[in-house]
Amino acid sequence: MTEPARLSENQPTVLITGANRGLGLAFAEQYTAQSWNVIATCRNVTAASDLRQLATRYPAIRIETLDVTRDDQVAALASRYAAQPVDVLLNNAGIYGNLSHQTLGTMDFDEGRRVLDVNALGALRVSQAFLPQVTASRQKKIISLGGGLGAQSIGSLFGGHYLMKMSKAAHLMAMGILQTETRDRGIIVVMISPGRVDTQLMRDSGWTGAALSPADSARLVIARIETLEPAMHGRLITYDGQIVPW
Ligand SMILES: NC(=O)c1ccc[n+]([C@@H]2O[C@H](COP(=O)([O-])OP(=O)(O)OC[C@H]3O[C@@H](n4cnc5c(N)ncnc54)[C@H](OP(=O)(O)O)[C@@H]3O)[C@@H](O)[C@H]2O)c1
Repeated sequence: MTEPARLSENQPTVLITGANRGLGLAFAEQYTAQSWNVIATCRNVTAASDLRQLATRYPAIRIETLDVTRDDQVAALASRYAAQPVDVLLNNAGIYGNLSHQTLGTMDFDEGRRVLDVNALGALRVSQAFLPQVTASRQKKIISLGGGLGAQSIGSLFGGHYLMKMSKAAHLMAMGILQTETRDRGIIVVMISPGRVDTQLMRDSGWTGAALSPADSARLVIARIETLEPAMHGRLITYDGQIVPW
């Protein structure tokens, strides 16, 4: 991961975290099919069989190792792609945390630190590192997935799930501040709730009701990313374009 990397200048570029499964894999698949340059990152490339399979169909896809909690890996990847404009930085990696360790009486604070590190600090860590590449791009978008549970308007409707809700609240604040600080560079920061999506994270949440497929949700989120109105900048929106107050 040391030699510098530069992709086709004729295509826009997306960098996706957690691209080995779930929504991240669906984003990688759909952006690749639309001929974008795709830097698909994941923690364990060897175990990412679906992503590697995708790369055999689309050799232009770049698979890179990235654990969003690792300062060294984030810095190394940003350095490797220092000269590569990134049009859309997609902060997708996320975890729910162990549900039984985030209720009153069972709270596991080590689990809390892990959830916060991935969901809130991870998105900020990657966004900070890749700010020059986003600034150098045409589209200049930093998109983070989810956040509804971190909004008072949704998270307070039912009990428990402390760690996930707190991490997404911190994530919303981080992205809100980031938008304030980068607006004058033309950067657009938006949090997008992808709906309930049939992934491991949804199963970890305990939800057993109706859910979108990862492919359907990713298609709707990508369409939303392409058409972000100024009123949505710095805000949390749903995949169908509603602004969620937080
Ligand atoms: N599914 C839903 O209903 C739903 C609803 C609202 C928001 N979201 C958001 O959508 C995003 C994607 O979630 P998903 O539903 O697709 O869940 P998922 O299938 O469980 O995928 C989560 C992804 O995050 C990766 N990840 C976990 N820890 C990481 C770390 N430290 N560094 C880098 N990658 C890491 C996982 O990689 P490993 O395989 O290595 O663990 C995996 O690729 C999350 O941010 C989530 O909060 C999902």
